Amino acid sequence: MNALEPDQLIAEAKRQTGAAADAAALADAKARFLGRDGEITRRLKSLSKLPADQRSAAGQALNSVKRAIEDVVRNREHEIEAAQLDARLAEEAIDVTLPGRGLAAGGLHPITLTLERIERIFRSIGFDVADGPEIEEDFFNFTALNTPENHPARSMHDTFYVDAGDEGRRGLLLRTHTSPMQIRYARMHEPPIRVIAPGKTYRVDSDATHSPMFHQVEGLWVEEGISLTDLKSVYADFIHRFFEREDIDLRFRPSYFPFTEPSAEIDMRFADGPLAGRWLEVSGSGQVHPNVIRNIGLDPERYVGFAFGSGVERLAMLRYGIGDLRLFFDNDLRFLRQFER
Ligand code: FA5
Ligand code: MG
Repeated sequence: MNALEPDQLIAEAKRQTGAAADAAALADAKARFLGRDGEITRRLKSLSKLPADQRSAAGQALNSVKRAIEDVVRNREHEIEAAQLDARLAEEAIDVTLPGRGLAAGGLHPITLTLERIERIFRSIGFDVADGPEIEEDFFNFTALNTPENHPARSMHDTFYVDAGDEGRRGLLLRTHTSPMQIRYARMHEPPIRVIAPGKTYRVDSDATHSPMFHQVEGLWVEEGISLTDLKSVYADFIHRFFEREDIDLRFRPSYFPFTEPSAEIDMRFADGPLAGRWLEVSGSGQVHPNVIRNIGLDPERYVGFAFGSGVERLAMLRYGIGDLRLFFDNDLRFLRQFER
């Protein structure tokens, strides 16, 4: 570069800075002209070798070249900054004209839909809806329901007991049915009592029609002067509305529960469709046992109670035509999506 005329030197600075694509390359180029060992610095140093009468003019000329090159560098610096800003803006740009990616809206689980449906129907005929604890005391799950310790009926349920250290002595368990809600609710409300209590229940149980966690809906109706006919008509009304068809027969088949007397299983039968003609059990039921009426603090001579406890998965399987209850809990989206609303 030492042979270049001032104009050529400025042109060379333009070429080299113009070729620098980023700040680092520009700093290198700048150093080649203006740095400690740069061309301009070198030429300024060699001014001292010139005869004294030429130094001033040569110095002025060199300084104006230096300022010109400083301008060149500064301009290029701005260009690079602007280019980088443009690149970033382009990269982060949002094209508001593109179609949206869409929101993947979740759907309600078929069991949730079924519970909502059951609640809607019972509310519409004047039943309250109540919620209760899933970790329950032995007292509410069994004892208050006329099932004292060592009662053989306790072995009808394979119970998950909760080992809660000292608490465990109070006899905590995962409720095996929603029936403890009969006691909890009736103790806090005055007759007439009309309530359903849907929720999760647990038993050591697992096959195509039994799962360790399942849902029941309890129904309790306590009032003076009601009879089994009232329970029958309420339950039949519920079933017809739940399945949205009238061609369903109901039958009350004698059974046994410690907390009802008499007790009955409620079976239903479709007049047609794939399941036509077969009796299908949907619920336990019965007249609330006098001991249970006493346990909720009422006089069994005066008050009559009816109760039922239905399997929610069972009702959902019949309504949707599902053969294996485990499908509800496998969380396979291909199955669950079919119920989306
Ligand atoms: C009871 O649990 C009584 N508490 C019902 C009752 C209430 C009787 C009020 C009288 C008065 P049961 O064990 O039969 O009864 O269960 C009721 C329903 O729960 C069954 O018909 C069945 O549909 C459902 N069920 C029971 N075990 C399971 C299970 N492991 N998985 C899915 N559903 C089940
Ligand atoms: Mg049963």
